[in-house]
Amino acid sequence: RSLLPDVFVAIGQCTHQGCTPQLRSTPGGGGEFLCPCHTSKFDLAGRVFRAGPAPTNLVVPVYRFDGDSRVVVGEA
Ligand code: FES
Repeated sequence: RSLLPDVFVAIGQCTHQGCTPQLRSTPGGGGEFLCPCHTSKFDLAGRVFRAGPAPTNLVVPVYRFDGDSRVVVGEA
């Protein structure tokens, strides 16, 4: 789902009711996105864990990289 392995681009809006999931560390050195509203969780690729109320993965928009440090969202 990512064009570069160390950069994740997604719409920062939970697919349940639209709150903003927050990046947090997990034991063992990984991470996840936790939605503060109703505790849905998404992995670092934006895939939803089935335990929460969010019905689908985070939305990954069309995007491209313009050079080494710029992301253009909405263009392929
Ligand atoms: Fe994210 Fe409800 S809005 S879990």
